[in-house]
Amino acid sequence: MTKPVIFWLGATGYVGSEALLALNQYLPQPDSHHIVSLVRDASPEKISALQHLYSDLEVVKGTLDDGDLITKTAEQSDVVINTADSLHPASVKAILAGLTARAKSNASTPAPIYVHISGISIISDRCNGAYVEHPKEWSDKDLDVTKLPHDAVHMECELPIAEAGRRVDHPIRTFVLNPGLIYGIGAGMQRTTFWVRDWIEKAKKASYSGTFGEGANALSHIHVHDVASALLVVLRAALTGKAQGGKDCNYLVGVSRTEQRAFAKVVGDCLLGKKLVKEAGCRPWPEDITGPKDNLWWRIYAGNQIVHPNRLYALGWEPTETKKQGPIDGLPQAIDVALNK
Ligand SMILES: NC(=O)c1ccc[n+]([C@@H]2O[C@H](COP(=O)([O-])OP(=O)(O)OC[C@H]3O[C@@H](n4cnc5c(N)ncnc54)[C@H](OP(=O)(O)O)[C@@H]3O)[C@@H](O)[C@H]2O)c1
Repeated sequence: MTKPVIFWLGATGYVGSEALLALNQYLPQPDSHHIVSLVRDASPEKISALQHLYSDLEVVKGTLDDGDLITKTAEQSDVVINTADSLHPASVKAILAGLTARAKSNASTPAPIYVHISGISIISDRCNGAYVEHPKEWSDKDLDVTKLPHDAVHMECELPIAEAGRRVDHPIRTFVLNPGLIYGIGAGMQRTTFWVRDWIEKAKKASYSGTFGEGANALSHIHVHDVASALLVVLRAALTGKAQGGKDCNYLVGVSRTEQRAFAKVVGDCLLGKKLVKEAGCRPWPEDITGPKDNLWWRIYAGNQIVHPNRLYALGWEPTETKKQGPIDGLPQAIDVALNK
């Protein structure tokens, strides 16, 4: 019998490769699924590194802009996992087109499954780094993305996914994870998170570590190991029918509550020790470093985003690594890894 197919976009990334490494622990049986991985740099080294993480894996060479290829591959797959770029609506639409065609042509079998990684900034209060006395705390138990402002970050991907999961005819079983800023040194192929690399580059350019606005907003963070386990717990619930997606498809993934300026200060202190900046600590960056207020990065870094992942807890998920090491504790080591890459 042929194995069910998972089409995976972004498997070489920080979250993707961490989840691929742990996949076998969450499948009905080890190696029960065949993976097709979209990879833009399909060098023999990348292919072999991916197959080292999960052996029954083939690579299809392409980018997120190869819409026809993505649609065709999604149509041939039982499950699509997308840990690539949550701000790339064209590739999401191509995936949904392929899965919709599959749902139509296999109407008597269970609907195909789509697991998508988005971001927590859908609920950003856009305070631009200012102190807010009682910022809203969000639970995913009553979260309905279609009720959020339609100009929130990620909505160009979230809304078509919500539509495909809720429609009456040929629905797709959709699941969306919305992680906070992810931290920790990964065990997969990309070992550091983009925002640490981004902060280092901005700090070097400005000669000091900075904040977007005052940096007084608070963010929920999550260790990369726990994002991977969250994705795989949801995947397992989808495969076993324990979770159906649709209206309840969004899972907030974050548990700490850390001020933006708390991690910015650690970056400043570390980089001063390495003589890469001229000041300790942090102070607000000018707009030539941050870009204009309320742009994408202000919404991501400089809004209050405090969440409670109750849907994940209900599935038995635990943020084990986040409990052991918070976002600040391991930051100096993550900076070392990012700088030495
Ligand atoms: N890291 C965080 O703190 C964080 C927080 C919240 C949400 N997220 C979201 O989580 C997802 C994964 O993030 P990550 O940190 O794992 O990112 P990452 O390390 O940059 O990984 C992104 C993956 O997508 C692939 N990719 C990106 N653009 C592509 C393109 N145009 N064509 C083909 N492949 C492409 C990359 O391939 P290459 O190996 O070739 O680069 C890589 O496999 C993203 O959607 C991100 O927005 C991340």
